[in-house]
Amino acid sequence: MTNTILTGDRPTGQLHLGHYVGSLKNRVIMQSDPENELFIMVADMQALTDNAKNPEKVSSNILQVALDYLAVGLDPARTTMFIQSQIPELSELTMYFLNLVSVGRVRRNPTVKSEIEQKGFGDSVPTGFFIYPVSQASDITAFKANLVPVGEDQKPMLEQTQEIVHSFNNTYGEVLVEPKGVFPDKGMGRLPGIDGNGKMSKSLGNGIYLADSAETVAKKVMSMYTDPNHIHVEDPGQVEGNMVFTYLDVFGKDKEKIEELKAHYRRGGLGDVKIKRYLIDVLEEELLPIRTRREEFAQDPGQVMQMLKEGSEKAQAVAAQTMAEVKKAMGIAYFS
Ligand code: TRP
Repeated sequence: MTNTILTGDRPTGQLHLGHYVGSLKNRVIMQSDPENELFIMVADMQALTDNAKNPEKVSSNILQVALDYLAVGLDPARTTMFIQSQIPELSELTMYFLNLVSVGRVRRNPTVKSEIEQKGFGDSVPTGFFIYPVSQASDITAFKANLVPVGEDQKPMLEQTQEIVHSFNNTYGEVLVEPKGVFPDKGMGRLPGIDGNGKMSKSLGNGIYLADSAETVAKKVMSMYTDPNHIHVEDPGQVEGNMVFTYLDVFGKDKEKIEELKAHYRRGGLGDVKIKRYLIDVLEEELLPIRTRREEFAQDPGQVMQMLKEGSEKAQAVAAQTMAEVKKAMGIAYFS
């Protein structure tokens, strides 16, 4: 294996088209390269750092996220999918990493900083939430991952992990692998929501979900933000910032037809309903096989949980091996 790749998602909701174009699609591509070993983690412990009083929200979404993984074509025969909390070594490693990171350093993490502000935590920020980048360093290093495909917002986590790896290796000896972040191409990382307000997200309620029915997708597309000044069909319309065209650019295969539609829309004489109907067809082509597979897997949740159990066992064996090396390097492998 040339690459060990690890990434994960917090199970706080179902996955949507933003996840699909921003990361899931790419994971399926990486999975198809036999040179890659892929670990995909359902980060329930990280989700609990700001949902401690609402564990049901996290636990109930584990199956949903796993169904989304299987639906897009992640294959347990090739990719290890597992649940973070089922690998105690990750918590163990975090305890040792915490000693290598100062409070001041944790406080400077810009992503955590803005999350603390957004959530209005102030000084009441749960300690577990405050230090989750250190826990994320354990997720990555326990598998000796060299590549970590994530969104731009995860850059500070990768930097923190690299620092911890340096610190650990300098202090105790070369055990850990320094990972590299793999970030989405410019423009592909952030699919805006159907309302055109920033990125697609559950909290903004502007998402199209992989599990959405064809009717729901159609309804959402029909409510999409277009050009508020395009009132009459014959009016010239704006293509920039028009979500229908933004989505067509991302999902449409017939680029020539899309350019024609854009020109027609700009000239006037092309109605919103027409372009929306076309987008519905384009999305349906992509979503129908995903939805169909999702429904099939959803018939047997026990089998999906069994897949995660086996993945977790496999992942734990890898993490345990790293942990043994870590303890040996630190001189705390007292009984072996
Ligand atoms: N923080 C990531 C997110 O919110 C999820 C995550 C947890 C993760 N542990 C990870 C991603 C390790 C990559 C590697 O999306």
